[in-house]
Amino acid sequence: MSTDPEILLRNFLPVLQKAMPKKTAGLWPDLERRVTQNFPALHEAFYALYGHRYDFSDQLQKLLLVAVKSNTSRSTDLRALDSESEKKPDWFQDNKAIGGVCYVKQFAGNLNGIRSRIPYFKSLGITYLHLMPLFECPEGRSDGGYAVSNYRNVDPALGSMDDLKQLAADLRGEGIRLVLDFVYNHTSDEHEWAMRAKKGEHKYLDYYHFFPDRRIPDQFEQTLREIFPEESPGSFSHCEELDLWVWTSFKNYQWDLNYSNPNVLRAMVEEMLFLANVGVEVLRLDAVAFAWKQMGTMCESLEQVYTLVEMFNCVARIASPALLFKSEAIVHPDEVARYIAPDRCQLSYNPLLMALLWEALATRKTDLLEHSLARRFAVDPDTQWVNYVRCHDDIGWTFSDEDAAEIGINGYDHRRFLNEFYTGKFEGSFARGLPFQYNAKTGDARVCGATASLAGLEKALKEETDVEVELAIARVLLLYSVIFSIGGIPLIYLGDELAMLNDYSYLDDEVRHDDTRWAQRPRFEKSHFLAVKSPDAPAHRLYKGFRNLSRARRKAVALGGNHCDFVDVAEASVLAYSRKFDGQQLLVLNNFSERRAEVAVDVVQKILGASKFMDVLGAKSMTAKQLIEIAPYQSLWLVAASRRPGRKKKAVST
Ligand code: GLC
Ligand code: GLC
Repeated sequence: MSTDPEILLRNFLPVLQKAMPKKTAGLWPDLERRVTQNFPALHEAFYALYGHRYDFSDQLQKLLLVAVKSNTSRSTDLRALDSESEKKPDWFQDNKAIGGVCYVKQFAGNLNGIRSRIPYFKSLGITYLHLMPLFECPEGRSDGGYAVSNYRNVDPALGSMDDLKQLAADLRGEGIRLVLDFVYNHTSDEHEWAMRAKKGEHKYLDYYHFFPDRRIPDQFEQTLREIFPEESPGSFSHCEELDLWVWTSFKNYQWDLNYSNPNVLRAMVEEMLFLANVGVEVLRLDAVAFAWKQMGTMCESLEQVYTLVEMFNCVARIASPALLFKSEAIVHPDEVARYIAPDRCQLSYNPLLMALLWEALATRKTDLLEHSLARRFAVDPDTQWVNYVRCHDDIGWTFSDEDAAEIGINGYDHRRFLNEFYTGKFEGSFARGLPFQYNAKTGDARVCGATASLAGLEKALKEETDVEVELAIARVLLLYSVIFSIGGIPLIYLGDELAMLNDYSYLDDEVRHDDTRWAQRPRFEKSHFLAVKSPDAPAHRLYKGFRNLSRARRKAVALGGNHCDFVDVAEASVLAYSRKFDGQQLLVLNNFSERRAEVAVDVVQKILGASKFMDVLGAKSMTAKQLIEIAPYQSLWLVAASRRPGRKKKAVST
């Protein structure tokens, strides 16, 4: 059969139309349009990966059949959402977009508990809710939910698939989009596919990467990075049942899928579309970089991975247009950037910003942060960052060594310093973090810990030093102020607004004790929420601060879009940037030091084109004469003051 796209499309269309259930025939014109629009890109990607196969066109047709059938079983509500998002695909550019992320169990017990917390999410302005993995996983061998044994069953302890559907609909009704993980690089070794492979079924042996002995794995390992060198060293595990070696980039029970087999791609597309039809609007592509293997390479971010993502995208544009992707690529910034495109991942975590925010806090200098961002922050206007301060994983110091070298910083030494600083070993450090996965061969290590503990609150509370408590609170708010204002969806790691500290109970847990990431995955007790009500508690201050950030962001039209101009204000501890959107402008000045900083007024006047301004975060007008003072760890969101008659504002003068 021909592989010519035009001929193929012509042949496929009648087959697809015929495959539709009779009662959905009315959907065909729309579907035909979307298939036709997306076919050239889908064909190109599919050809790049599977063009050498004798059954290429057959495989491609099967994939399209999956897409078309899935669309016919999509609910009317979701179909309405599809047409809405085809008309207005860029909701993520809105200054009102604010994200939150939590574990279902730790945060609210189960899915119904999450539902009852909707008012809480709304109190923080959340419009985008990422629930950590909630599907069935083997007890004790789940990597916090990232070893899925069934993508179609909710973990029974959390609820049912119907609960999830209901929750998605309820959230949508309240203007909150549901975001879930798509753990697409690997399954649990107890997933049905893996179990059938263990029984020797050929079809499923081809779903994973198996090797008869260590010969080839040893060759691969010469160029691979170890992800969990301490507790799951190497990238291959011995499968007792088969007496074979199997590829396991992460833990030994997480088997990497073999995407060079188009049946795997199709099977995972079916799982993806199943999630889309539950009402998920964004899928976080977990460990996106690892999905393709090639001898002699690191097997991360290979060209074929981008092609795979494009393919998932084409299918989504046909079957569930409202569905978007967020990449989780915690890799070198050059590679992070390549995942971000309207036809790849429309959204992406920003690991560089995250790591360098902590770097600037430790050094009290913003040069590396500014230098790196000025070069790397800009992304396609139809895509968006998801900016975060902390998450459930470790902090990896993934800045570029070349960027660092340009300003005289040695990357290797600097990472060592940062690890020492955040594990509290560096003299004078305020942080109480924990080391993660020290690799004795490379000297590499990462850091874990809750935001508040890393920012100094744990130490300050223990030592009962009020001044330090204040500073720690200010540090947390400063980091969040940056992600709320710099351009992108800010993602609150829920618990940060409640001043939650490291939780050391994982140390007593047989399964979790050697994975320090559990320190920042605490259970939310009633007392955590109640603390918000006691004026002296750090939780009260932080929660108030978060609500203020949310309020200020939602009002500031200039914070829409993703364009950001970095400004040099000649003060080492200050990170400054100007945002413009829809005719509005805002200048942000962030002081990363416990000392007061000063910025010349005329610099600000020039940027804002006004002689008077107002800090919309502090809700104060500013009447500085020569110097603008920025208090320790303060963040100012400055706009030109509008003259509104009859309104008196409190003045802060310098
Ligand atoms: C992602 C998750 C991490 C997990 C890994 C393997 O990076 O964020 O928690 O260990 O993937 O699934
Ligand atoms: C590595 C991986 C990332 C994963 C993390 C798990 O940094 O690049 O994908 O989340 O390890 O800790």
